[in-house]
Amino acid sequence: MIATVAGVYVAPGTTVGQLNRELWYNTPMDMIETLGKAGIIPVIVIEREEQAVPLAKALVGGGLPVLEVTFRTAAAPAAIEAIRREVPEAVVGAGTLLDENMVRRAKAAGAVFGVAPGFDPAVVAAAKAENLPFCPGIATASELSQALTAGCRMVKFFPAEAAGGVKMIKNLLGAFRFTGVKFMPTGGVKPDNVGDYLAVPEIVCCGGTWLVPKDALAAGDWAAIGKLAAEAAAIVARLRG
Ligand code: 3PG
Repeated sequence: MIATVAGVYVAPGTTVGQLNRELWYNTPMDMIETLGKAGIIPVIVIEREEQAVPLAKALVGGGLPVLEVTFRTAAAPAAIEAIRREVPEAVVGAGTLLDENMVRRAKAAGAVFGVAPGFDPAVVAAAKAENLPFCPGIATASELSQALTAGCRMVKFFPAEAAGGVKMIKNLLGAFRFTGVKFMPTGGVKPDNVGDYLAVPEIVCCGGTWLVPKDALAAGDWAAIGKLAAEAAAIVARLRG
């Protein structure tokens, strides 16, 4: 069930007093729903722009419609533009957004959401200014608290396995569940542990690079990548129906 307080989507039962922070969330509810339906988000490091469209077609065709193209390579903005243009059924976000300029470039390229490995209030503010739904990274209670105060309803938990995995998220939820916070764990998430994460209701989706192995990408083995995507989509379907 979805409730609103002062026009903002919040956890049912939340009051304005409980929020006690800026009544604006960087991740709108419809984006959370889209991410949640996908369940698993391929984290993509693309070296050549021409790989973008066949890669996106393989992933979306396999059943994973939401893609995170990281800004770790020069090809990222053009890759996002190409996917937006030629694979309209894909929902493309930009990852590894470390400064305001990267946020602006991601938005200009057509990214519909942004992700970062860490929490930086200036980057969150830039995403807000660009109206780009944004998930900053957190790995501690203090960072989560700051992200919530900055108006972020959903956070990336990174590096998930190294920072305590499902157990850490469950412990954080003990204190923070009432805020309505949602998580996207990434980092060390793989087919053999992704189900443990997705079983937690507050975990909207998981990100991972395992869906795009470097050798398969370099070889243009789209069938292999499509198969990995289909296997991941089957895990989501089994757990979430
Ligand atoms: C990220 O880019 O978000 C993480 O490095 C992905 O981690 P993984 O390679 O363990 O999936």
